[in-house]
Amino acid sequence: MMETSTLETAKDETKAKDFLPLNGTDHIEFYVGNAKQSAYYYQSAWGYQLIAYAGPETGVRDRASYVLRQGKITLILTSSILPDTEISKHHQKHGDGVKVLALWVDDARKSYEETTKRGAKGVMEPTVYKDETGEVVISAIQTYGETIHKFVERKNYKGAFLPGYQKRESTVSVKPAGLKHVDHCVGNVELGHMNEWVKFYEDVMGFKLLLTFDDKDISTEYSALMSKVVSNGNGYIKFPINEPADGKKKSQIEEYIEFYKGAGCQHIAVATDDIIATVTDLRSRGVEFLYVPDTYYDEVWGRVGKINEDVEAIKRLNILVDRDEEGYLLQLFTKPVQDRPTVFFEIIQRCGAKSFGKGNFKALFESIEREQALRGNL
Ligand code: FE2
Repeated sequence: MMETSTLETAKDETKAKDFLPLNGTDHIEFYVGNAKQSAYYYQSAWGYQLIAYAGPETGVRDRASYVLRQGKITLILTSSILPDTEISKHHQKHGDGVKVLALWVDDARKSYEETTKRGAKGVMEPTVYKDETGEVVISAIQTYGETIHKFVERKNYKGAFLPGYQKRESTVSVKPAGLKHVDHCVGNVELGHMNEWVKFYEDVMGFKLLLTFDDKDISTEYSALMSKVVSNGNGYIKFPINEPADGKKKSQIEEYIEFYKGAGCQHIAVATDDIIATVTDLRSRGVEFLYVPDTYYDEVWGRVGKINEDVEAIKRLNILVDRDEEGYLLQLFTKPVQDRPTVFFEIIQRCGAKSFGKGNFKALFESIEREQALRGNL
């Protein structure tokens, strides 16, 4: 008995020391069919500024990459310009989607070493990239599906984005929509694999299980899902992992997996301090959001109580509201941002709440199912 408890204490102490300190999300890279046109959409509709570019004009022969930024959010949109490249094969299989969830670290070599020795599959050993403004070190490991995590160490770099990219500015008119930072990134994995990926984040990356939702929390007449949220030591990185649960008909997670051809990133939640202004802007520029029935607002105020925002505007803009022990949150989900019913975005404003909108899941899923039915996939 004595020995076990000493061991447990030792284990707790090592666990308490963060072996993978993360400063935040560095960037998110999408592989898309036409990066030039996607870049136009994210600039014009979403208010991201073009900050850098890599492509044939900069000496890159197989791809074009547009780097967009709003607040602390950095997106790379990459297309292959040749057939039979890793990027074009990825795109043929998955369609537009998230390839890289890159994490900002102080030591990309140590991040690689600590995670691979705990069982992560390495996809890129620590590599130094240099230009006249300094150097960065990047390494990468595999996560669910064909998605990867890059570790980006940029403390010795002063350039626009990364070596290999040229500074660029938007040539279209860009009006920022108040997006500040990445709040969380959600992964969809195949039935029965959620716990394996939760364990991966716990064991390999030192994350902690934050929350669990089961099918009692999140089920509608037709479909259900299970979800667990893992978070790193300082809480800057939060990765909810979903898997489908049995329902009468096909769940939205199964629909995603069927069309993405495997596990992948389901949505990226981006934070704003003023969701009414953000959603007003985005809607006016053609960003499409999930429809929430008026009946949702008949019961919501009873559930969440008083909020500081204009409730009429919340209803008019179809914004969802939820409350937990620490406060409330306002959120809204876009429709998929490509023709395959796969990745989408969430807009979130946190007013104290640290949760993910559990109270909205049911209303939300009923809305997603209406869209699924329209696609003939329910
Ligand atoms: Fe979310």
